[in-house]
Amino acid sequence: MKVALLLGIVFTLSAAERIIVDTDCGYFGDDGATIAMLLRAPGKVKVEAVTIVSGNVWSGDSLRYTREILALLGARQTPVYLGADLPLRHTAAMAQEAGRKWGRLEFQGAFGEKKPREPQLPRNAVEEIIRRVEAAPGQLTIVALGPMTNIALALRKRPSLAGRIKSLVFMGGQLRVPGNASKQAEFNFWFDPEAASLVLRSGIREKTMFGLDVCNRAMLDKAGFDAIAKARTPLTQRFAEDFGNRYPAFYKNPKATVSLWDSLVSAWLVDPTLFGPPERLHLDVDTQFGENYGKVLERKWTEGVLPVSMMNTVNYPAVYRLFRDLLTQHVHAH
Ligand code: RIB
Ligand code: CA
Repeated sequence: MKVALLLGIVFTLSAAERIIVDTDCGYFGDDGATIAMLLRAPGKVKVEAVTIVSGNVWSGDSLRYTREILALLGARQTPVYLGADLPLRHTAAMAQEAGRKWGRLEFQGAFGEKKPREPQLPRNAVEEIIRRVEAAPGQLTIVALGPMTNIALALRKRPSLAGRIKSLVFMGGQLRVPGNASKQAEFNFWFDPEAASLVLRSGIREKTMFGLDVCNRAMLDKAGFDAIAKARTPLTQRFAEDFGNRYPAFYKNPKATVSLWDSLVSAWLVDPTLFGPPERLHLDVDTQFGENYGKVLERKWTEGVLPVSMMNTVNYPAVYRLFRDLLTQHVHAH
């Protein structure tokens, strides 16, 4: 009896978190780094599928970039599904109007880019999220690294899904610091405010939020960049090309810094002790098209709306070491 109990405890403690990653991955960036970290911590997380959404770039480009990164990670076999191309309501025209009326936008992601040709692949990410969650009720964690369009569409199509999702862990929003798309809103929430509001108000039991409040405390600098770039593996060369020459272009701007953003989500999934206790808050998102479109709203306790656990503090030196060590692993693509 004792051995079985011990094995049970060991298994429970060591069972890897089963996750679906929803991403708006660009050429590499924080999404690419996060995917690499998640696939290089097999004892902690098991990436069961990757779903693609428009955000940083249009979903067609994100699909291509994500596949290229999975190949560099030797993970070509990871299932990837194409999701929503457009937010629930926001459009490029609305974003341009907002820039004219309420001040220049800091970042507008895909809205500022030419659309690629429609990929020859079914847009079945929403159905796949529903199918996988229903096949493993209470066992799957959704890791949202971009606008929440796919997750909102899945919840709207199957309202009972909320109670079957084990937990949602996401990078998005901000509460006590300025936004980074508009002054009032963080990019993932700004790109699709309606989706963010629907998901925050949903009945998903556990929602863990990595907003700009904690992300602004995790800033990569040139020295941190150099320590990774010097590994010169196929993956770190892509990292160096993106962070070094594109954004924040460390080679041209050695004094630049950039938040690890999404990679705080993977750091937490791999080692939650690197973060301080979360703050339990009832949050919603402003979906009124105007200066505050996409801004996080703090609500008083409301019947039936479950709170969000918002992260505020992080042991950044330890998170950076984890980020660096997982990105510089010498793992050869198959
Ligand atoms: O605000 C940061 C978020 O916007 C991150 O998910 C980053 O990838 C960009 O999409
Ligand atoms: Ca992202």
